[in-house]
Amino acid sequence: MEIATTAAELHNFLADAGTVAFVPTMGNLHQGHLQLMRIAREHGDTVVASVFVNRLQFGPNEDFDRYPRTFEADCEGLRREGVDVLFVPQEQEMYPTPQVYRVTPPPLAEELEGASRPGFFHGVCTVVLKLFSLVQPDVAVFGKKDRQQLKIVRGMVQQFNMPIRIIPAETVRADDGLALASRNSYLSPEERLEAPRLYRTLSWVADEILGGRHDYANLEAAARADLSRHGWKVDYIAIRHGLALRIPHPEGYDHPNLLIVLGAAMLGSTRLIDNVDVVQGASED
Ligand code: PAF
Repeated sequence: MEIATTAAELHNFLADAGTVAFVPTMGNLHQGHLQLMRIAREHGDTVVASVFVNRLQFGPNEDFDRYPRTFEADCEGLRREGVDVLFVPQEQEMYPTPQVYRVTPPPLAEELEGASRPGFFHGVCTVVLKLFSLVQPDVAVFGKKDRQQLKIVRGMVQQFNMPIRIIPAETVRADDGLALASRNSYLSPEERLEAPRLYRTLSWVADEILGGRHDYANLEAAARADLSRHGWKVDYIAIRHGLALRIPHPEGYDHPNLLIVLGAAMLGSTRLIDNVDVVQGASED
């Protein structure tokens, strides 16, 4: 595996790369990320991964400084997966001057994750655009765990006519259902036991919808109440339409197959997010 720290090195390594499949990450790689690499391998002659903890997408009170950085272990995992090129720019390489040009994402970016994390999607879109310009991939793989990110990045690629195919990847879960995430490493042993409740709760909502309920507000409230009872501080539980994450019609006119249930909540000091399709694999991505 070649390791590039500058744009110039990256371009050298990609000179005769053929079809490039790209997986951007912030490191602290787990099986979920490695699954993205495997999917990338199916779509490219050359697989490029990046590791860059992007300050621009962290709020002032968020965990930028304590975000887990595990470079050696990340390299080992990526080598095992046969990744060809790893791009690990320093902050100075990505932001040599203050980033005054930024992508303005659509109104959806102010909802759900964006409501709790103002500026988050400005930061994500801006860095993804920069990474896409540097790597110039044919294909990029994004996990469905960050569903809103996947939708917003896909929309950006479409509206800016970027010749990049965005491939969604299913969420990888621990045996007890917890979605794998870098921030899971913050959980205490007791919190780790409690953490799968988020997935169970979202799945319960999905099952109720599949069973014919369309009193979405009640379902969301019941899910929130259950998590709160178990000590969670809930940001949102939201039933949305899979196409553009719009709010579904309250009369239940949207086909349940196209609905997604999303949630974000704090367990202790760790913020966890997850989402489930009401019908696995049936919604639009
Ligand atoms: O999903 C992530 O890890 C990040 O948001 C991304 C896409 C690498 C941009 O920093």
